[in-house]
Amino acid sequence: MQITINKKQYEANVGDRLLDIARINHEHIGYFCGGNALCQTCYVRVLEGGELLSPLNEEENAFLSDNLISEGTRMACQATVEKTGTITMVSVVEEVKQMFENEPLQLAGYAAKMGWEAVVKVSDTLWLQSKRELDLFAVISDVISGIGDAFQLIGRAIESSCCCKTESCKCETKMG
Ligand code: FES
Repeated sequence: MQITINKKQYEANVGDRLLDIARINHEHIGYFCGGNALCQTCYVRVLEGGELLSPLNEEENAFLSDNLISEGTRMACQATVEKTGTITMVSVVEEVKQMFENEPLQLAGYAAKMGWEAVVKVSDTLWLQSKRELDLFAVISDVISGIGDAFQLIGRAIESSCCCKTESCKCETKMG
């Protein structure tokens, strides 16, 4: 089945976690905590095919405000594909990047909105985290793995913006 992430199409299967699909394809998505429902950077907005995903779980209900849920927001580290069909989504970090590049004046309002949506869920979030038993070693391993992926993404971003004319340059915008 097809899944579109940040306007690019990828293959996905039932059972795949949204975060893993994005990571495998080096798509722009946040996952500072390595997928352990701690950092809130993996938010995505599902524009199409939300009914094909797993229902909101306890972590998502604790983190996501009613407002964000009504806008189709999911935590990519928690949501998995449950049925075949077409899914289209955009990561919040990509949305912010696009806003920064195209409508920077909207960033302050966007940050205020997201801050407010987090504030209204603080008690639920704290309650959830207080009763979790985390495997600290596994979390640290996931974080380190996430940092490695982040460096790869940065490398790709630099490479794709390169305009050098050397033979060794692999950049897509390589000139003549
Ligand atoms: S909350 Fe950190 S990756 Fe989902």
